[in-house]
Amino acid sequence: MNSQNWNAKEYSINAAFVAKLGNSALEILDPKPGDRILDLGCGDGKLTLEIQNYGCHVMGIDSSEEMIDATRKLGIEAQVISGDNLNFDQEFDAVFSNAALHWILDKDKVVQGVYQALKPNGHFVGELGGKGNINSVITVMSAVFQDFPHWGKFRNPWYFPSVAEYAKVLDRVGFEINYLELIPRSTTLNTGIRGWLKVFAKGITSNLKSEEQEIFINEVEKRLQPIIFAEKDGWIADYIRLRFKATK
Ligand code: BEZ
Repeated sequence: MNSQNWNAKEYSINAAFVAKLGNSALEILDPKPGDRILDLGCGDGKLTLEIQNYGCHVMGIDSSEEMIDATRKLGIEAQVISGDNLNFDQEFDAVFSNAALHWILDKDKVVQGVYQALKPNGHFVGELGGKGNINSVITVMSAVFQDFPHWGKFRNPWYFPSVAEYAKVLDRVGFEINYLELIPRSTTLNTGIRGWLKVFAKGITSNLKSEEQEIFINEVEKRLQPIIFAEKDGWIADYIRLRFKATK
């Protein structure tokens, strides 16, 4: 799915906001007791547990073994499966995904797998980064790579589609779109840009030596500070969500 390595402990510290802010998408999911639900890209399972607590039979999947271990420790059925390698056949009433789909570049493959995994009339509900998401962070990361040419070319690992682009993907696969909206959502990074980079930019710097990774973090922090940091509010990133509900 991606070359990013996930560390469950780092994730629970630096990315706790991901599950907390996933509640809007959860409201759209509107889970009912007894529903069989697949949580695609469940991460450390915090939001998956909320779905289970509605009385649903939920299964979490994630490409990271470490994240699946963390999810199982919460008492949730979970399997190491990448979102672009689904192999379920009409098993789920709904497929839910929060902040995971933008890591999967083969968007048609994942949406086709979701379609196949759903029962007739099943729902696909989710939220991912949308067009323009974290533009300031990406611009600065790319500029740092340009200033250190021996590190190689900056590669953006994420897929942040517009409403029109994602509508086409859902439509191509056969979904009926019930709701699809781009929502700017400034997001406080509770452990600053350093904590965020340590969790989410690992894949971007995985070919660098550890001293170079430290230089990268220092440079990005220094250059982003005047743009997204304020003494009063802390670090606030320019998140933009693409939230949707579609029916098979
Ligand atoms: C997001 O949720 O929008 C996101 C998280 C980590 C990296 C990139 C985007």
